Amino acid sequence: MSPQDPTPDPGAPAPAWTPEDSASLYGVDAWGQGYFGVNPQGRLTVNPTQDPARSIDLLEVVEGMRERGLNTPLLLRFSDLLHHRLREIRRAFDSAIEEAEYQGTYRCIYPIKVNQQRHVCEEISKLGGPLGFGLEAGSKPELLAVLGLTSGKPDMPIVCNGFKDEEFIETVILAAKLGRNITTVVEKPSELDMLVKYSRKYAVRPQIGIRVKLAARGAGMWEASGGVRSKFGLFVSEILQALDLLEREGMADCLTMLHCHIGSQVHDIHHLEAAANEIARVYCELRNMGAGLRSIDVGGGLGVDYDGSQTNWASSTNYRLEEYAAAVVGKIQAACDHAEVPHPDILSESGRAMVSYSSLLVCNVLGRSSFDAGMPLCELEQDAADEDTPPPLRELLEVRSELTRDKMRWAFHKAAAARDQAHSLFDLGYLSLTGRAACDEVYWHICSRLWELAKDEDEVPEDLQPLDSSLSDIYFCNFSLFQSLPDSWAIHQVFPVCPIHRLDEEPTRRGVLADITCDSDGQIGQFPDKRQNKVKSVLELHELNPDEPYYIGFFLVGAYQEILGDLHNLLGDTHAVHIRLDGDDDWEVGEVVRGDSVREVLQYVNFQPEILEEALRREIEKATRRNRLTVREGRALLHYYREGLEGYTYLEDAEPEVLPTDPETPDSSDQKPEPARA
Ligand SMILES: Cc1ncc(COP(=O)(O)O)c(C=O)c1O
Repeated sequence: MSPQDPTPDPGAPAPAWTPEDSASLYGVDAWGQGYFGVNPQGRLTVNPTQDPARSIDLLEVVEGMRERGLNTPLLLRFSDLLHHRLREIRRAFDSAIEEAEYQGTYRCIYPIKVNQQRHVCEEISKLGGPLGFGLEAGSKPELLAVLGLTSGKPDMPIVCNGFKDEEFIETVILAAKLGRNITTVVEKPSELDMLVKYSRKYAVRPQIGIRVKLAARGAGMWEASGGVRSKFGLFVSEILQALDLLEREGMADCLTMLHCHIGSQVHDIHHLEAAANEIARVYCELRNMGAGLRSIDVGGGLGVDYDGSQTNWASSTNYRLEEYAAAVVGKIQAACDHAEVPHPDILSESGRAMVSYSSLLVCNVLGRSSFDAGMPLCELEQDAADEDTPPPLRELLEVRSELTRDKMRWAFHKAAAARDQAHSLFDLGYLSLTGRAACDEVYWHICSRLWELAKDEDEVPEDLQPLDSSLSDIYFCNFSLFQSLPDSWAIHQVFPVCPIHRLDEEPTRRGVLADITCDSDGQIGQFPDKRQNKVKSVLELHELNPDEPYYIGFFLVGAYQEILGDLHNLLGDTHAVHIRLDGDDDWEVGEVVRGDSVREVLQYVNFQPEILEEALRREIEKATRRNRLTVREGRALLHYYREGLEGYTYLEDAEPEVLPTDPETPDSSDQKPEPARA
């Protein structure tokens, strides 16, 4: 502070909370990569072109869709953002190629498995065409979709991965004869025999790729996709035999591509570099042996920094897109220059990096169950000195009276032991229900006081860290984790989450987010923590206002989430809406895909709604004859049933509700806090 600065007045009120404070708290700039921001009105904005001057107010969109009859949960896809991502990938590789004076070209291939929704694929095929991008299919249905998507686009490259049968290969060969730019990647030796057979049958010279089982492996959740134990690809010895076979058939020139894929979301660039180097070395040797190789496809793996920490951490990446492009180009170039082999064209199948940012989910909060850390302790009749006071309660009361800052850990463990003892005595019939309730109450009172003290420490003692989530609220959110964020449940993937409005108000509550499935796993308790560079178990949230909806956004959900989502509890697809910038710096609604109706989800599991409805109608008829229901009541029930069948599978128009709750018991022994990142 300079000498002229006024000395801060310790008694002065804290400065007002600002939208910038929220942006920093939720790490919006870090994970948002310029695509998301907070405006002066305290609302989350989407900047589809990374230009804050062309931002879209998310709350405005949600309210606008509500007026159009589309309630939350709502999936929003931003077409201009998707386009921007494609151009960014193109630009990164173009710069790397130009800077290195690399002689080959680059093409990005969208693996449709990442999100096969027709509107997404059509946009990529339309926007990606002029950028030289292509599509990848990994199964028979995907192949048929890709052939349809590339109709009339003979130059658009198609790469076929995955296991294939005769029908698959015959279709590919005929598509090549039709004039499609299609490469079949051999994943196991028998596929090569089929390729030779159908090429001969239809007199086609196919473009063949071979997936190499690299020794290099990825890192993280999809590590097993690479390495010699991966289920796909050929060992180098098998590749030599494959080349032999092709030479004998006079088809060595048809072996045009080498392919690898070491896994998705590779967070450490060293693994990607090692793979690029290894496949380039194999390429050079094969080329010198007479293969007609012209390109290397380095597969997927380009990661997304979900938590914004830029670290070597599963939900982050320790590299940027530009560094990835430079590493791939540089490694391939170095190996080829060393072997005096011309530079191949490079392909990557960077699906996650293409589509993650362009979709987000917004849901409304239905209510909260809260545990108030500061709640007053009920009047207890017993005191510690009283002989009738049960021993565990006596201990808890003593701990409470002796609790000071320098005895926090002692107090926590002593209180936990006394409460465990109270529960055992209750189970054995030696402690009454009121005695047990008193023990629980004093225990939680101690915990809240402990947390109040611990929060002010420079570092919260490790044993006490679980108290943070144990004493937090539960916010009930109108969505299904299993349908909309399956990776959060299945592989504990961290996604950025934050309220989309009221960001000019300080969030005074801390909570976890529970969905509406009847599954205790349907809960999010992991959030990016930019400020501490680790994952936090509770999210800062606002007090619920009775007459105002409270909306939470889940970001970067464009890759895999839509397609891996399932029908747990028959909660179906959410509404999906495409939002575009219009010429006047405003936004407009593009395609609207209505979410599943109850009728549809029932049909997915083979119910026939007409039969269900008829059965209910008959039962109502009988009940009215027996005077159990009036005709009017019967009609009302049938009306609700019919309306329900056509309705959304999610809850509609619920008012936020605040309920009291029991806090979750922290387990002081085995709940280890998330380690700080390297
Ligand atoms: C062969 C192949 N290519 C590309 C991808 C997409 O990878 P990413 O999501 O890392 O872009 C996958 C996905 O696992 C894959 O199996």
